[in-house]
Amino acid sequence: MSIAVIGGAGYVGSHAVRALLAKNRDVVVIDSLETGHPESVPDGVSFYTGDIRDRHFLDEIFANEQIEQVVHFAANSLVGESMENPLKYYDNNVFGTQVLLEAMIKHGVEHIVFSSSAATYGEQKEMPITEEAPADPTSAYGETKLAMERMMKWCDAAHGTKFVSLRYFNVAGASELGVIGEDHNPETHLIPVVLQVANGQREHITIFGEDYPTEDGTCIRDYIHVEDLVDAHILALDYLKDGGESNIFNLGSNQGFSVKEIVEAAREVTGHPIPVVIGQKRAGDPAVLIASSQKARSVLGWSPARTDISTIIRDAWNWHEQHPHGYKGAGRS
Ligand code: UFG
Repeated sequence: MSIAVIGGAGYVGSHAVRALLAKNRDVVVIDSLETGHPESVPDGVSFYTGDIRDRHFLDEIFANEQIEQVVHFAANSLVGESMENPLKYYDNNVFGTQVLLEAMIKHGVEHIVFSSSAATYGEQKEMPITEEAPADPTSAYGETKLAMERMMKWCDAAHGTKFVSLRYFNVAGASELGVIGEDHNPETHLIPVVLQVANGQREHITIFGEDYPTEDGTCIRDYIHVEDLVDAHILALDYLKDGGESNIFNLGSNQGFSVKEIVEAAREVTGHPIPVVIGQKRAGDPAVLIASSQKARSVLGWSPARTDISTIIRDAWNWHEQHPHGYKGAGRS
C-alpha cells in the first residue's frame, strides 16, 4: 500500500517524500509542476504530473495505485498574491481539495494529512498561539486553508474521512546534505532572500518596517526546520493509522526571532555583511507569530530536533551555496 504525496515535488513535499522513503514507505507523487521541481523527486518513485482539479486524472491514479493514505501539500501559498487574486486561491486550493476528497471517498481512502498554515489565525493577542485560538485569517490565502480544514471536517462527519491538519509557522532550512531545498520563483520568504544577498544575487535585504511594537521594531516569527516539519507528517500518518481522531496541530519551534535577528544570524553563518535597507511595512504582516506546539508534542510525540536558528540557516545556506540558481541546471538526484 502506498502513500500519495500531493505536491510532492514542492519545497516541503519533496522533503516529505524522502523522509517517507527513508522509512521504507511506498510513495506515489502527484504534482502539477506549476511550482514544483521534478528534479527534487528521486528516480524510481511513481510520479504523476497533472492537476488535482482534473477528476479524470485523479480517478485513474486512485484506480491504478494501491493508495492507503494521502499527504496533501498542493496549494498556492503567497499571501500577497492571494490578496490580488483571491479566486485563483479558491479555485486551486479549495476546489482542488474538494476534487481530491471526492476521489478519496470514491476509492475508499480514509486518511489525509494536510498542510495548513499559521495564516488561519490572523492577528492574535495571546502568544504563543494554541490551537484553541480563534481562527480569523487576514488573507485570502489563510481563508482558503481554513475552508479546506472545514471541508475535511464535514467529510469526516459524513463519510468518516479522518484528517490531521498541520498548521505550519515559518518553514525554513533544507535537507542536511543540501540535496534538495527551497526554490521559489519569485522568492519572497525572509531566509532565502537574505541568503541570496549573501550569495551575491541581491545587493541588500529590505526589512519591511522597523516600527512594530517589538524590542527591535521588526516582526517576530517562529522558524521551523523543514526536516522537523516533515517528521510531524509521518507521525500524523501513523496517528491516523492507529485510529486517531481528526485533529489540528500547530508546528513551530515555540521561539520567536525578529527580522533583524535573522539577518544577524545569517551574517554569522555565512560570513557575509548582508547590507540592510529599511522599507515600508508589508500589508497583512502581523507583528508577532509564535506557536505553541505543545499539543503536537504530547499527542503525536513530535520532538523537533533542529530548533537552533543557526542550524536552520546553515542548512538553508548549504543548499543555496550548492544551488545558486535552484534546481535550474542541477541534475536529477
Ligand atoms: N520580510 C522582510 N523582508 C523580506 C521578506 C520578509 O522584512 O524581503 C519579513 C516579513 O515582513 C515578515 C518576516 O520577514 O515579518 C517573515 O516573512 P516571510 O515572507 O518569510 O514569511 P511570512 O511570515 O510572511 O509567511 C509565513 C508563511 C506563510 C503564511 C504566513 C502567515 O510563509 O505561508 O507566515 O502569516 F501564510
